[in-house]
Parts: sequence; structure tokens; C-alpha cells
Amino acid sequence: MNKSAPIGVFDSGIGGLTVVKELRALMPQEEIIYFGDTARTPYGSRSPAEIIDFMHQILRFFAAQQVKMAVVACNTMTALGLDMAKKKYPFLLVGVNTGIRSALKVSRTKNIGVIATQATVASGKHGKAAKAIEPKATVYPQACPKFVPLIEGEKVSGAEIQEAAIEYLVSLKAAKVDALVLGCTHYPFISSLISDILGSEVTLIDPARETAEDARALLAKHQLLAEEGPGNTRFCFSADIDRAKRMAQHLFEQRLPDFELVNLQDYQ
Ligand code: DGL
Repeated sequence: MNKSAPIGVFDSGIGGLTVVKELRALMPQEEIIYFGDTARTPYGSRSPAEIIDFMHQILRFFAAQQVKMAVVACNTMTALGLDMAKKKYPFLLVGVNTGIRSALKVSRTKNIGVIATQATVASGKHGKAAKAIEPKATVYPQACPKFVPLIEGEKVSGAEIQEAAIEYLVSLKAAKVDALVLGCTHYPFISSLISDILGSEVTLIDPARETAEDARALLAKHQLLAEEGPGNTRFCFSADIDRAKRMAQHLFEQRLPDFELVNLQDYQ
């Protein structure tokens, strides 16, 4: 591995771009290759075996790109496949931070809400993380299966997503959570909608920043931080590159390069 090699970042679709934004801000000198599996999104309602299989295909793509690190910018793949994938590839691997430590820091009541995909909720990951830090904490997980398809479909505002958000958040409001972890990297695209429903007394936690900090700390530990820059970002998707680019433009102010179509079948 060498310092000037790229960092691979991936998700089931456009969600992981919210992590790329933080990585870019924190490590402007790094080369980044993003991959979003827009041909097969959403992952969160698939079986664990299928999710793990897809994750390994993507990791083989990154092995071919000779990355020094891959950032799993997807809570679902982090919860289901990260531990098993560690040490199997010739590069470092880091997953999405749970955000639980930050949530506990801002919470007075220690009632923490977590919204995520069905697979992430079923893993129980956030509840376990909270108990390990603060035994008195209560985590209220809520699966939100309608969110990813709507966000991928560019429906980040309007009646449909608003109704879905009310449906999912009503129980968290009733539970009086005062911090809410966005446990899916797609959800920061609709954070203002979520805030409007929950009100200012609930602090939203987007773990993207901590994830970027974890990635930087791991690179620093292995003396693999790039020394020269600025680095470029390549944006690769398995389908719908025009749609992906329109959504990416919501997050990044500067003009983006051409998006690339990648066929994962080449990495079976
Ligand atoms: N962004 C992914 C996550 O963080 C969404 C997974 C999906 O495609 O359902 O879990």
C-alpha cells in the first residue's frame, strides 16, 4: 500500500455521498473513488447473505483499483458484513460510525432514537453500542423501508416522503427521544424534513463526520495519509449515472466531473 493510492468509498446507491462530503472536507489531499450500486439499491430489505455477497463484489472492484482503504459508507453493509470482510483484502477497511457516542453526549434523557433500514435495525447494532457506553440508555430503533427508494427516486420533498416520515417518526416522538441517529447514509438528504417533524428539541446525529474521522485516524495509524494534493474524486455507479449526478449536485457545490458506469459483473 502506498500513501498516494486512492480511498474507495461505497454504498448501495447515492447515500454514501454524504460520507464522501465529510471525507473531502477532512482530507482534501486524498484521491477518492466512490461506488454506488444504483442498479441494485435498496439493500436494506434484502437477505443478509445477498447483502454480504454484493459487498464482496464491490470490495473486489476496489481491490482492482488498488485502493489503500475502503470506507463502507452504508450502515447496512457495516452491520452485516464488515467484521467478516476485515483482513480478507489487501487494504484497510472502515465502516460507518454508529453515532451513538455523539448521541449520548447531547442527550439529557438518554432516550435515543435510531432510524435505519430493516436489516440494520434487525442487527441490533445501535442498541448494543449504547449499552456498552451507557447502561442506562434506551435506544428506540425504527426501520424506515420507504425512505431509500424515495430518496433514490429524487423524491426528497413532497407529500409521499412527508407522509412516510410522519408514519416513522410518530413513535419516536411519543417515546420522547431527545437525540436521533440517522442510521442510514441516505437520510441526511432529508434531515430538514425530519427536523421539521420532530422539532428543535430533538438533535439529529449524522455519523458521517465521525466516520471520516475514523478513516483519517486509521490512515494516520498506518502512516498512509496522502501528503500531496488536492485529490480528485471519481464517481462510479452501476446504473443511472445522470440521476446519481443530479442527486450528488444537492450535496456538492462545485461542478462535478463526468460520472462513470461500472459493471460489477466484471468483479464476480
Ligand atoms: N445507505 C444505506 C445504509 O446506510 C442504505 C441501504 C439500502 O440500500 O437500503 O444503510
